[in-house]
Amino acid sequence: MGVMSPTLGQEERGGARHVALIMDGNGRWAKQRGMPRAFGHRAGVNALKRTVESAPDFGIEWMTVFGFSTENWTRPPAEVAELMGLLKNYVRSDLTRMEREGVRLHVIGRRGDLAPDILEIIEHAEARTRRNDRFHLQVAFNYGGRADIADAARRYAEAVKAGRDTLEGFDEAGFERYLSTADGPPPDLIVRTSGERRLSNFLLWEAAYAELVFQDVLWPDYGPEHLGLAMEEFKRRDRRYGGAEADGVLAAG
Ligand code: FPP
Repeated sequence: MGVMSPTLGQEERGGARHVALIMDGNGRWAKQRGMPRAFGHRAGVNALKRTVESAPDFGIEWMTVFGFSTENWTRPPAEVAELMGLLKNYVRSDLTRMEREGVRLHVIGRRGDLAPDILEIIEHAEARTRRNDRFHLQVAFNYGGRADIADAARRYAEAVKAGRDTLEGFDEAGFERYLSTADGPPPDLIVRTSGERRLSNFLLWEAAYAELVFQDVLWPDYGPEHLGLAMEEFKRRDRRYGGAEADGVLAAG
């Protein structure tokens, strides 16, 4: 069973083991208050903190959040700088708590384009939390689903060229090992806030069998109660992974 195989055990218990969040609506939230977009992003960090803190109460073991996309560089430089600064402060200020509470931090995305000081903070935090496994927080930063698949293909080709891998027996499970998400299970549930109904290049490969829930709340207003509603919606879904429900039993098909 490959790392990306759907987490049937958890599914049988009716919960979502891995929840991914597209935290959308910071700009609109700020605009409604006549404030600059940065104000919305800052409030977004608080929403992220309270949501992550509540996640284990819902039986969630992995949470992936979309912090900065490969397309976000096209935003005004001041906004890009604000988002970079927020990641730095978030990781720095929460590292001790993560260490203490058994949280392992994973950062996925293209690292090459990040400033050296951010890279250092990320790598330090990942190393310090490496042995934790009570909860996994995966931050997608300078991440794009297509970029990640293209980068994985390149790493695979390079491995074949260098004699570290072969074309024989190459399959989906073999390919997944080259994705930046290879350490964890695929998301069971992907939530997007703010009413937009798109994946926007998030976890394209990994989303194959994820349930999608769209909530009409702007991200800075998000919290445990909204996550609870998304989990309730998830439990009502009938997940079949391409199989068919026959006499109440999941039959492959
Ligand atoms: C979308 O809102 C949100 C983002 C582009 C960034 C999400 C970032 C945070 C919640 C804070 C920082 C993150 C980390 C991981 C520390 P938008 O600006 O597109 O909102 P809009 O659609 O209303 O304009």
